[in-house]
Amino acid sequence: MNQWGKRDDMLVHETEPFNAEPSPVALARAVITDVDTFYSRNHGPVPDVDPDAWRLTVVGLVDQPLTLSLAELRERFEQHSLLATLQCAGNRRSGFLKVRDIPGEDPWESGATSTARWTGVRLADVLLAAGIRPEAAHVAFAAPDRSELADPPQTYGGSIPAAKALSGETLLAWAMNDEPLTPLHGAPVRVVVPGWIGARSVKWVERITVQAEPSDNYFQATAYRVLPPDADPRQAGPGDGISLGAVALNSAILEPADGAQVTAGKLDVTGYAFAGDDRGVARVDVSVDGGETWSQADLVAQPSPWAWCQWRANVQVEAGQVEIVARAWDTTAALQQESARELWNPKGYVNNSWPRIHVHST
Ligand code: MTE
Repeated sequence: MNQWGKRDDMLVHETEPFNAEPSPVALARAVITDVDTFYSRNHGPVPDVDPDAWRLTVVGLVDQPLTLSLAELRERFEQHSLLATLQCAGNRRSGFLKVRDIPGEDPWESGATSTARWTGVRLADVLLAAGIRPEAAHVAFAAPDRSELADPPQTYGGSIPAAKALSGETLLAWAMNDEPLTPLHGAPVRVVVPGWIGARSVKWVERITVQAEPSDNYFQATAYRVLPPDADPRQAGPGDGISLGAVALNSAILEPADGAQVTAGKLDVTGYAFAGDDRGVARVDVSVDGGETWSQADLVAQPSPWAWCQWRANVQVEAGQVEIVARAWDTTAALQQESARELWNPKGYVNNSWPRIHVHST
């Protein structure tokens, strides 16, 4: 266990800020990811917030600005829990690096995604208590962690449209898998925006501003945006590119591990697929001959509309080097794209091309 309560076998991309993901095999173990296994993505030092001194303010386009302590938040509003998958927009970026380099960004594998049971109150209930006004269009979140990576350096923030903020699923959560949030995951309270990129699930939230425009925070206005492949990210400024919100359909092969030695014959292949917001996973196929023929996988568990779907296929592998490929469809019949080449973008977000691994079969 490391200082942040994470397993020793995490793949640590950076220690300051701490950025780490579980191995595919560790992620495959359970539908609900243990806290010690859950990935973590940070842009600055983890703040040490005293839960007794912590206050949440709700300001902006509201009739009744609020200041709430943790006890008031828990007493005034009904408690809700839900299972939701968080997925970072940089998940599977490593697949893009085979196409072209992406300087300054972590090479996340398929573990920048994990699933937990979150408990807290509905953001909608707090916004309604504050008297959110009809002209409200966006709800912005501000946190105290300061990022030197932002241009200019600033504290972390972001926003979501008012409709998503008022949906029942968006939570102000204080517990993860029925335990109080750890400092790394946003204690005492974080936002959880199910089905949206992890960047909007702001940790250590301390101010909510209801406003007419999206947040002008660097992590909303400039980062977490898809630029066209020929754009120069050093020239990109606020408003450039496409802002990321709902998570695009994606999937990964978790077992066997890439590069594993396996026995020729019948082989179990497992993984996850995830489609954000109101889309579900409709079907997953697996190929062991480079996409010539496919076997339909069983969708084993999708424990909530907001969580990933775990799948399993039993395929026949012959002796030798074998490439295993998967492809998923969502409930809008969207199919993942075959290759990362068409999807490559200068900041390396949303690599949702078909996952591929290689095994040696004897
Ligand atoms: N909130 C704050 N305050 N600071 C951050 O750096 N990172 C965001 C989001 N919320 C971040 C944050 C990103 S990009 C992701 S993917 C998720 O937190 C990761 O949440 P986790 O560390 O609990 O897994």
